Amino acid sequence: MTDAPCTLVILGASGDLTKRLLMPSLLNLQEEGHLPQQFKLIGMAKDAMTQEQFQNHLGECIGQFATRTFKPENWQRLLQATDYLSGDLTSPDDIRRLAKMLEGSPNVLFYLAVAPSLFGPIADQLAAVGLNSEEGGWRRLIVEKPFGHDLKSAQELNARLQAHWKESQLYRIDHYLGKETVQNILAFRFANGLFEPIWNRKYIDHVQLTVAETVGVETRGKFYDKTGALRDMVQNHMFQMLAYIAMDPPNTFRAQAIRDRKMELISAIHTLSPEEVRRWVVRGQYGPGDSLPGYRQEEYVDKNSVTETFVAAQFHIDNWRWAGVPFFLRTGKRLPKKTAVLSIHFLPAPSILWRDTPAHNLKPNELLFHIQPDQGVELSFEAKVPGPSMDLQTVTMRFSYEQAFEVGRGTGYETLLYDAIRGDETLFSRADVVEAGWAAIQPILDVWQAEPAGNFPNYSAGSWGPAEADTLIRETHREWLNP
Ligand code: BG6
Repeated sequence: MTDAPCTLVILGASGDLTKRLLMPSLLNLQEEGHLPQQFKLIGMAKDAMTQEQFQNHLGECIGQFATRTFKPENWQRLLQATDYLSGDLTSPDDIRRLAKMLEGSPNVLFYLAVAPSLFGPIADQLAAVGLNSEEGGWRRLIVEKPFGHDLKSAQELNARLQAHWKESQLYRIDHYLGKETVQNILAFRFANGLFEPIWNRKYIDHVQLTVAETVGVETRGKFYDKTGALRDMVQNHMFQMLAYIAMDPPNTFRAQAIRDRKMELISAIHTLSPEEVRRWVVRGQYGPGDSLPGYRQEEYVDKNSVTETFVAAQFHIDNWRWAGVPFFLRTGKRLPKKTAVLSIHFLPAPSILWRDTPAHNLKPNELLFHIQPDQGVELSFEAKVPGPSMDLQTVTMRFSYEQAFEVGRGTGYETLLYDAIRGDETLFSRADVVEAGWAAIQPILDVWQAEPAGNFPNYSAGSWGPAEADTLIRETHREWLNP
């Protein structure tokens, strides 16, 4: 807990994010005693509401979205600290009214829970009335995703925000970094002496990351049809996880050291040539299947849309540690299972010794990081089957979060809010890291724009994506891990 007072201003407070994620997270923080004693919350949005109406609205929602049972007095305490301001987020007059409300609040955290087109204009308005000034305390700005649409727009947005805000005031959210299992990758790698010596091309054959979702685009057709899976998942969440799994050890656990190592890694992702894009990146779009509509039949989606809802790709990292080791990434909507798994596939043991035994077919060791919904780490190895002959079978050692720790379910935003309040930038994306992510996928965006997919839809809802995704990995004599 931090004792410094803090006022959190949610800009766009009447939207989904506030009721589904932010309020349940704040409540969990309140329950755990992690909010400052002097904590205030101001919601601002266009909707005409009084403070009481806003509080009632939050009260109606919390029952539905709270992730744990909670003490009513904690919720009451949070509500009592909550105020509302109805106003236009880009109007100088309304932002001045906000500034007036904030008089006497030394430390303010602004949360841009708005459409991406408003990030720049609102940041400008806040700065225009001096709300970026850190003279009497700190001022921070949390920016939601998506951060840009391509490399150029991300650079422009960074430049616009940085015109009035210092980089140390900018907190770009990637909610995957709030997940315990993602943070555990760093603990696993750098708090244990066992793995670092073998974490390289000499011992590792390849790495896989699958993030599969069963849902379709739900109500987000308008946004998603302009975005697609590559921008929505790969450039941000998946690259962040890739960085954690593959970066060099930082010298300290401070934000700058960790972000520097991440930056080195993401900027070392091999720049794909157009030919490599065609060979190594597979796009897909779901058609009807399992009694579910196809993507083109979803609400707000263009009937001839060529937006991808699935991506599978082979990436390489151009550095000494990873030269020659492929990283296979796969993500999609309407796949058979909701799961996120990162797997390290080690090189096989020499099989010569086993050639005259029943166990000639050795399976290489695999180390699996179960990100969600299972949470844990699993190592597979070969063991002798009891009996007179030397038969082998693959067995696993498993660490499960649920069994090892008592963990209450959270939204993943608790740590992020807590860190932003404390001023710990470690879990937030720095400008250069975001741009490096865009730079790595820009060649794919360019080829896809020039050569729109002619074969969509190419997988059925409820299947594991297009057949080309299997071919992509099989051509390298490997198989997707069946998560
Ligand atoms: C969001 C994407 O960033 O992440 C969504 O915009 C996606 O399309 C979501 O569904 C997945 O997050 P999670 O935490 O449910 O895996």
